[in-house]
Amino acid sequence: MKTILIFAAFIMITSCGRQSADTQKLQSQVDSLQIRLNDAYKPGLGEFMTGIQLHHAKLWFAGMNNNWKMADFEMHEIGETLDDIKKYCTDRPEVKSIGMINPAINSINQAIKQKDIQLFKKGFVDLTNNCNNCHKSNQHEFNEIIIPTASPVVNQDFKPAK
Ligand code: HEC
Repeated sequence: MKTILIFAAFIMITSCGRQSADTQKLQSQVDSLQIRLNDAYKPGLGEFMTGIQLHHAKLWFAGMNNNWKMADFEMHEIGETLDDIKKYCTDRPEVKSIGMINPAINSINQAIKQKDIQLFKKGFVDLTNNCNNCHKSNQHEFNEIIIPTASPVVNQDFKPAK
């Protein structure tokens, strides 16, 4: 009986020792993953905005060229970037009012569906005003967005593919 007890105690002690070594190993893995996560690159709001700026400009030339497929594509790109902003920029209080842009986005989408250039122009002006309204109400009035005056790139044709 005594030997059995000593044996049982021995098993318990050694298995506890192994368990705590395993827990320690796991903890150090979790710690090093946490450090890597903290150091992981995450684009800032300004970088997402710079992306939106390019899509905003391309969207205009796509619409002006009746290239509705391209306009639709650019709208999706803007939408995806807005989703990324909502996901990755939760530390920026300005992002809370990002929904203000939705009505303008909806009317542009409608214009694209109807291939209606007048509706598109009106929606685009609304969208651009929205960009600036948010900038103004967040001390970024110096970032003034306008209707593009020239193509943002020289290596892309905005006319519909033949
Ligand atoms: C919900 C508010 C909001 C809306 C809507 C918004 N912006 Fe911004 N934008 C900001 C804020 C805040 C900054 C400053 C970001 C920073 O601190 O880096 C900014 C910065 C910018 C910049 C400067 C980026 C740089 O680093 O040079 C551009 C360009 C820009 N926005 C374009 C747009 C365009 C185009 C739209 C509309 C399609 C738009 N923004 C809509 C809030 C907004």
